[in-house]
Amino acid sequence: MKIWLKERIGKPELFTGRKKELAYFLNWIDRTKQEISQSSAILSRRKTGKTALLQRLYNIVFERNDRVVPFYYEIREADKWIGDFAEDFFLTFIYQYVAFKTRNRDYLSPKKARTLEEAHDISGREGLDYLMDPIRGMRLRAEKEKADMMWDIARELPRGIAEHNDERVVQMIDEFQFINRFIFWDKERTRRAENLAGSYLHTCEYKNAPLLVTGSWVGWLMDDLNRLLPGRFLKGPLGNLPEDESVEMICKYSLIDKVLVSEETVWLIARLTLLHQRAVQIEMSGEGPDDPGRCPEDPGIRDPELGCQHQHDLDGIS
Ligand SMILES: Nc1ncnc2c1ncn2[C@@H]1O[C@H](COP(=O)(O)OP(=O)(O)O)[C@@H](O)[C@H]1O
Ligand SMILES: [Mg+2]
Repeated sequence: MKIWLKERIGKPELFTGRKKELAYFLNWIDRTKQEISQSSAILSRRKTGKTALLQRLYNIVFERNDRVVPFYYEIREADKWIGDFAEDFFLTFIYQYVAFKTRNRDYLSPKKARTLEEAHDISGREGLDYLMDPIRGMRLRAEKEKADMMWDIARELPRGIAEHNDERVVQMIDEFQFINRFIFWDKERTRRAENLAGSYLHTCEYKNAPLLVTGSWVGWLMDDLNRLLPGRFLKGPLGNLPEDESVEMICKYSLIDKVLVSEETVWLIARLTLLHQRAVQIEMSGEGPDDPGRCPEDPGIRDPELGCQHQHDLDGIS
């Protein structure tokens, strides 16, 4: 399979398993064509494979080239003025969109810094004239530092373009909870935009460009979604790899790292890893036998006030 967007995992062949999750979300993506997929959230601790899964989904959907445009954006753990955030989000979408339409991977990792001027030129050159108006609109707002308008334009762009072309866009936003914690209304970064996730209240309901968000800070994301986007997202955990997929992964890593392991050791490591992850989960959460806030299906998910909010619509994925 061709890799379009560089995956953080490194060598693409390292990606192992996640068969159930890939099948579930590819079906979810397929159903966007009939506009029946609801925005969804994957909640699980750090280093459980969310980014690897989203980036692989991105590349599969890109490769399929079947009226569904993938969009991947990671919200970073660094303070940012909302104007800069909006422009970065906007340009990331434009460049990924142009790459998809032209099948040119260079737009996914441009050698020069991306700018609105360059995006405007590229769109004209590639015959994607309908992108030029929103880019001009963004430039105008950026010049006047109308930051909240810049965010409105950026946030609405994916669904607007999908509507214009009768296409679908799948918006994969990694570490969504950071939108409420690292974006600021002012350039000096003193006024945190602490309810910014709520700006998605209507945007995330459009079925031509649903969101697939992730969060490592499970409590934060759960709270943001329940408080600011009630009923808008299906929520589900990302479980451990099943034993056979763990074994396959350990074998691959041992080959790459040139560490010889016997078959017996591989199985032992796979079982210990699962046991260890479970032990860490229990230890970290203070889980007790009658803990009412604990989701029985994923002990990593809990909300102290609302109790278990796990929705069973995503039963298939964990
Ligand atoms: N399906 C997978 N196959 C092989 N390695 C994986 C897989 N998922 C995750 N990994 C490994 O685990 C690390 C952490 O995964 P990552 O996707 O960054 O987790 P998260 O985004 O949940 O923090 C990756 O760098 C990669 O080495
Ligand atoms: Mg990640």
